[in-house]
Amino acid sequence: MSNAIYRLIYISNNCMEGSNAEMQNEIQCILEFARKANSAAGISGALMFNNGCFAQVLEGPQGPLEETFERIQCDMRHDSVVVLSYEEIADRGFDNWSMAYVGYNADSLREFENIKTESGFDTDAIPAERIFEILQEHLIDAENDKLAA
Ligand SMILES: Cc1cc2nc3c(=O)[nH]c(=O)nc-3n(C[C@H](O)[C@H](O)[C@H](O)COP(=O)(O)O)c2cc1C
Repeated sequence: MSNAIYRLIYISNNCMEGSNAEMQNEIQCILEFARKANSAAGISGALMFNNGCFAQVLEGPQGPLEETFERIQCDMRHDSVVVLSYEEIADRGFDNWSMAYVGYNADSLREFENIKTESGFDTDAIPAERIFEILQEHLIDAENDKLAA
């Protein structure tokens, strides 16, 4: 069996409605489910949410990664899922994170403002590598959140 690890990066459009508190509640449900399922499947990664859209990095062996992504794609809480990159990697970028979360952060919010246009996503506005970097940069915040929780 191959030990190869792959990384998939996608963006999607948020379909959840309601107050901020309701949406944060829903995000917590997603994270809770994702962390359990991903740990069991050997998947690591990070999720970003800025009200308008999601960006997610998923890393793991090809079979479990594709199975997880199939389920995610069918989720009615988002649509317009666009895969920005899918490739074999030498090392995980989110080792130890079954699903890190980056939300609320002013810097990441600002960069993602330009990605959504009337005709869909402007995928040139933020390339996959930049999404990966943003999520990694803000892991510090996620770590602080985790410690404070
Ligand atoms: C933006 C977003 C990210 C998600 N990330 C994950 C994830 O990393 N792992 C996971 O197992 N489920 C994740 N989910 C939840 C799945 O979409 C789905 O609800 C869950 O796997 C249960 O699927 P099932 O009802 O078909 O069993 C995510 C959902 C959304 C909307």
